[in-house]
Amino acid sequence: MKKIAILGLTGSIGLSTIEVVRQHQDKFKIVLASAHNNYKKLCSLADEFNIPQIVITDKKLKNKITDFPKNTSIFFSEDKLQELLENSDYDIALNAISGSSGLQSSMTIISHGVDLALANKESLVMAGHLIKSELQRSNSRLIPVDSEHSAILQAISATSMDQVRSIILTASGGPFRELPLSEFNKITKAQTLKHPTWEMGAKITIDSATMMNKGLEVIEAHWLFKKDFKDIKTVIHPQSIIHSLVEFVDGSIIAQMGFPTMKLPILFALSYPEHIQSSVAKTDIYKIPDLSFSEVEKDRFPLFYLACEIGRKGGILPTVLNAANEAAIDLFLNDKIGFIQIFKIINYIVNREKNIQFPDLETIVETNNVIYQKVKKDYRNILKRI
Ligand SMILES: NC(=O)c1ccc[n+]([C@@H]2O[C@H](COP(=O)([O-])OP(=O)(O)OC[C@H]3O[C@@H](n4cnc5c(N)ncnc54)[C@H](OP(=O)(O)O)[C@@H]3O)[C@@H](O)[C@H]2O)c1
Repeated sequence: MKKIAILGLTGSIGLSTIEVVRQHQDKFKIVLASAHNNYKKLCSLADEFNIPQIVITDKKLKNKITDFPKNTSIFFSEDKLQELLENSDYDIALNAISGSSGLQSSMTIISHGVDLALANKESLVMAGHLIKSELQRSNSRLIPVDSEHSAILQAISATSMDQVRSIILTASGGPFRELPLSEFNKITKAQTLKHPTWEMGAKITIDSATMMNKGLEVIEAHWLFKKDFKDIKTVIHPQSIIHSLVEFVDGSIIAQMGFPTMKLPILFALSYPEHIQSSVAKTDIYKIPDLSFSEVEKDRFPLFYLACEIGRKGGILPTVLNAANEAAIDLFLNDKIGFIQIFKIINYIVNREKNIQFPDLETIVETNNVIYQKVKKDYRNILKRI
């Protein structure tokens, strides 16, 4: 029985993980779980799955909760989560916190020496160099949960990276893949939150519409698979059936495929390196639609190209990019800016920040907070200057 910790249990990935665990209760036991403020959902899952310890990271909720689960110890604050990650007994932790708030937990899990199943790609975007060096000191293995990176891991399982010529990430192209560019200034929040093939949390759904998500995944792939940016390609594949491809040095290509569900990459991350008997997902090969592939258009998806360029520059700039993106998404979700202004604001910010190579964790966390606040406070002035 594998003891697992799940961070961000109440989100889209967390709840898909619950479905995987529900079907494999003989294999996985949740021993620690967290949410930020959805305590009702977290408490009800703690009751259902007999989770011994749960953490609500928003400490403001401490005095508001009166209805506690029966057999569960409940804790509050981000610091308490880090303390429990350092001191509890678990075999693998799945980090499904959204955004930059997931970074500290990734670092703590690796330094604790247990396996990290990583959905929180922002950890690698902000601190790939620190995570890689911490992994060398620890017994921890880093296993991707993102379907694209899980696909690559599965495709390269029988070979070494020096036999891989390139990694090819697939992207659905999101809801605006075919929208005339002249209509981009009329895009609404509701249209943006409606992804054609995946059901996900709000932040990643917007990142998919701008294709910032794919840019973040290119950076994630660079750190996970030690490939140069020039050897990581992206193709638009609207059907989301092929989750990614690996091209080998002899020219052969292996693609990993299946109907889109996060349950499969989650199950593979939890059972890695084995594929275990399961019915969490089945692909009927006769129902697969025609598959198509095309290039990522520069005019349509400028944030994708900006993210790749910033990933190549490295240092503190990916943190600046990520923080500006999180703030711009927050502004968009609160109807303060329009869809096309997301790119304009991020582009303005990243082009004005000085790079620092090999930043330490403190610098990364501080820069993240400073840039986030700056965008939230100054966005009107920034937009006037563009
Ligand atoms: N959804 C997908 O299909 C998918 C696929 C691949 C990768 N990912 C990655 O997985 C991560 C999670 O995505 P998601 O779609 O599951 O997000 P989501 O639905 O928004 O869920 C986020 C989870 O993180 C918690 N959380 C939010 N803010 C937090 C904070 N400041 N501190 C600690 N916990 C916090 C939330 O708690 P509350 O519910 O209490 O707010 C929730 O449990 C992201 O990094 C995303 O890029 C997602």
